[in-house]
Amino acid sequence: MKTIDDLIGQGQVAGKRVFVRADLNVPLAGQTITDDGRIRAAVPTITRLAEAGARVIVASHLGRPKGEPDPQFSLAPVAARLGELLSRDGISTAFAADTVGDSARSTVAGLADGQVALLENLRFNAGETAKDDAERGAFADELAALADIYVGDGFGAVHRKHASVYDLPARLPHAAGGLIATEVGVLKKLTEDVTRPYAVVLGGSKVSDKLGVIDHLLEKADRILVGGGMVFTFLKAQGHEVGKSLLQEDQLPVVREYLERAEAKGVEFVLPVDVVGATEFPDLKTQAPSSPVTAAVDAIPADVIGLDIGPESRKLFAAKLADAATVFWNGPMGVFEHPDYADGTRAVAQALIDSPAFTVVGGGDSAAAVRILGFDENAFGHISTGGGASLEYLEGKTLPGLAALEG
Ligand code: 3PG
Repeated sequence: MKTIDDLIGQGQVAGKRVFVRADLNVPLAGQTITDDGRIRAAVPTITRLAEAGARVIVASHLGRPKGEPDPQFSLAPVAARLGELLSRDGISTAFAADTVGDSARSTVAGLADGQVALLENLRFNAGETAKDDAERGAFADELAALADIYVGDGFGAVHRKHASVYDLPARLPHAAGGLIATEVGVLKKLTEDVTRPYAVVLGGSKVSDKLGVIDHLLEKADRILVGGGMVFTFLKAQGHEVGKSLLQEDQLPVVREYLERAEAKGVEFVLPVDVVGATEFPDLKTQAPSSPVTAAVDAIPADVIGLDIGPESRKLFAAKLADAATVFWNGPMGVFEHPDYADGTRAVAQALIDSPAFTVVGGGDSAAAVRILGFDENAFGHISTGGGASLEYLEGKTLPGLAALEG
């Protein structure tokens, strides 16, 4: 895979319009960015290109608008934050009010060497996510007309077969940005030559989102620790009553099969021994104190919703991570957005920090959680910007955005 090092080394970017597909899909509360990790991760590639004299066109999606402009998904707050970060390197950033329209064309035409323009949300155009190849291709043609070179750096979106990720690189000379190169290098360490014992911590709400990766990890990992909302389907599969907790009944057979396969293969499944819950879901907006209760997993009251792993489980999980040589973690252990249910996620983050293992936090909510809970990002081996993308990479799937950069 060609990288921007090759492009810059060969003097190919100076004076050229370089389209950088980034993933600036950050969590927002209204107009406020609650975690700017993905924006910060995008900056080094943009800066390098600008400093090498490129006219940099940055593009990203935000949220899931329905193929037409929708103000609540505008990249305007992202433009402000990106502009602030780039200005520290003396780089000026313009923001276009559309993606391939008059504003984008005139903003790009107005760029001087070393300047940056951010386009509005790519998903304001139906062609970006269209299933139909011709529709996506037509949008990719319009994007291609804006630029001379394509740099793929939106690791979080490489699992999407979208116009700006998959079709556009086929239309322009292309290379991978520094972020994609780093992410792929780290994930290779988890798939090709993993140092053992290899422990994986999985959380998040739905077990159905994680089936593919669990299936694959049963062949790779030595130990799989499960928390988050998905754990209640595992506990139920083991014969426990789970009260009003999240339960995916339809997944019980497949979860039972995983537990049996793990046992046959000698892969250790570690489930919580206790949980923290409440009779009502906590109010995340007001953060009003709730009334948490702790229960052993074989005594979860019928009216309780499990919202976090319990104190004994936190100790158990920390012990199961202490002697690992490699740890991959994806998905919070509970409703960490409320202080009463953040301790499980906090304990796993701390266990990763305390462990001498090579530790990877696999994107999405868990990456946001470690930052929101105030941990030092540098204390982890790597914090991925890809949630779904890193899981699909670990599943061994071909990711369209990476395949397109290989070609
Ligand atoms: C993510 O947040 O995982 C990426 O930005 C991809 O977003 P999507 O799931 O809406 O395609």
